Amino acid sequence: MVEAKPAVNYIRQPYFYDNWVEKQGIPVYRDYYIEDGRTVELGDWDARGHKAAFLQLAGLEGVSEARISEIAPGGRIAPVKFALEEVVYVLQGRGVATVWADGGEKHSFEWNAHALFRIPGNHWVEYSNMTGDVPVRLLQVNNLPVAMSTLQRPEHFFDVSVPTKSMVGGPEGDFFSDAQAIESDPSGRGQVRSYWVGNFFPDMRAWDKLVPFKGRGAGGTTVFVQFPGSELTAHMSVFPAKTYKKGHRHGPAYVLAIPAGEGFSVMWQEGKEKVYVPWHEGSIFVPPNRWFHQHFNVGETPGRYLAFHPLPQFTGFAAENLDRSSDQYEYHQEDPAIRAHFEAELKKRGLASEMPAEAYTNPDYKFENEKD
Ligand SMILES: [Fe+2]
Repeated sequence: MVEAKPAVNYIRQPYFYDNWVEKQGIPVYRDYYIEDGRTVELGDWDARGHKAAFLQLAGLEGVSEARISEIAPGGRIAPVKFALEEVVYVLQGRGVATVWADGGEKHSFEWNAHALFRIPGNHWVEYSNMTGDVPVRLLQVNNLPVAMSTLQRPEHFFDVSVPTKSMVGGPEGDFFSDAQAIESDPSGRGQVRSYWVGNFFPDMRAWDKLVPFKGRGAGGTTVFVQFPGSELTAHMSVFPAKTYKKGHRHGPAYVLAIPAGEGFSVMWQEGKEKVYVPWHEGSIFVPPNRWFHQHFNVGETPGRYLAFHPLPQFTGFAAENLDRSSDQYEYHQEDPAIRAHFEAELKKRGLASEMPAEAYTNPDYKFENEKD
């Protein structure tokens, strides 16, 4: 079995969930990041009959669970019924998921690498690998740590018989139809957001219905993901080659997975040492609670990151008129070492920055897609 080294020393007592995780007998990664979820070593999860690992990454802070499961080539994962809903991102491979509630019709759908989908709570799910040569790797995110803090009885969360109205199959069989794009202005202040609504998002690497992410710099664009009737949300941001976004901070448990691009992120607690996180397709990391973090694209193609959000209670964004000016560094305010590091990383690759010089001198600088 793999003994992953703790890079992070908890100052808190372990939560009930942390102790439960330890008992599962599979690797538990406690670092700041996983460089490649497609290749990180997993262990045999005897209770489930497949390989898996828990990612207790620094920024999860007992809010969300993140784990990686593998489906062997030509294999399957026996049905599990989990009380909580779960969001799944396909890191690698091709397969089928079959979902049903007790007594309800079964509904199957196929997926490929870079798909994202939501499994409703209290439904069985069975996964199969459709290929005979490539292992499937799934990244699964849910809120089990918080749930276990309030109900310290693991047996209540798995394979429990609870009368549940099926959300899939039968007349409501379109649960997993492709998500739809909508644009709306929820605040009514002219800030149009692009939403992608549904329970099945076939390709996070190809989706291009994005709107400008105004105020975060680099000419970046974004789309917000909503699962109907769920409080779980996500977003995906895309930003151009040879640029970087503004440093900012927020609450814990924003789980970032990289569908495409090459770059790095820097994470730091105000006034403390910086942590560098290299990333490319398959990387996973979580900025710790209230740590500043900043994303840099040092490749030749757009960088893309998918962010699973914490439950809304933990985002730190609930207050309507919160002054967030102290939660973001504008380019002209940042430590010059940040820009120097970015330019040095580009130079190693024979590339040069495409950040506009004026962004560092003009506090009101707007990228082309931020003007209207
Ligand atoms: Fe962030």
